[in-house]
Amino acid sequence: MRRKVIAGNWKMNMLPNEAISMITNLAPMVKEADCEVVLCVPYTDLFYSLLTAQGTNIKIGAQNMHFEEKGAYTGEVSGKMLKAIGVEYVIIGHSERRQYFAETDEMVNKKIKAAFANELKPIVCVGETLEERESGKAFDIITNQTQKALDGLTNEQVTNTIIAYEPIWAIGAGKTATSQDANEACKKIREKIAEIYGQNVADRVIIQYGGSMKPENAKELLEMTDIDGGLIGGASLKAETFEKIVNYNK
Ligand code: 13P
Repeated sequence: MRRKVIAGNWKMNMLPNEAISMITNLAPMVKEADCEVVLCVPYTDLFYSLLTAQGTNIKIGAQNMHFEEKGAYTGEVSGKMLKAIGVEYVIIGHSERRQYFAETDEMVNKKIKAAFANELKPIVCVGETLEERESGKAFDIITNQTQKALDGLTNEQVTNTIIAYEPIWAIGAGKTATSQDANEACKKIREKIAEIYGQNVADRVIIQYGGSMKPENAKELLEMTDIDGGLIGGASLKAETFEKIVNYNK
């Protein structure tokens, strides 16, 4: 049985005082949650968020990291640095990073390896554009991205990787994939993992859906057979809406 992971991605939002107050409000609302609750916050909120979340069941993640451990990479933050302050999760290869910061599949793969080297849990994003979906290429794109991202990992590392299926056309668009379409895509990703790493590994990998998930559609999406959680942007910025997604089954 896969335990669901519901993660917020605040993107470039929230000042430290807002982070502290959001997490303080959220903590009592989600303390009985059946799922893993994660908030991936901007670098500048990490330390405040970690302190505020101490003693709660809320885990803190970053939204990116560099694959090198240290060195002359002005403006970058390494996995070792994240681990040193107590961060547990890191989003890797979000479509906004691939699109606006030219992240390639190769960089994504290096970052995942660096995350594991530093005992961070990677949440790896894959997803197709609208054009790719309309031309019938969606499954090829996402299974390819998955294969390249996981290349060279051990079975154990693959088992511990979280994949987030985020169709680019559904992100921040108010437009959600139907639960059937989202489930089918997650299933294809799982089949690809089974083909390469075996059914046993594939059955244990957490595959999230992300893209305009909100309280109104969370339950239907999260009850699908192959959707093991959510990666939530806009609706994770307020405790009241994020809480409803986390507690979708209450
Ligand atoms: P929205 O939930 O705002 O559509 O964002 C999804 C996302 O990109 C999460 O990583």
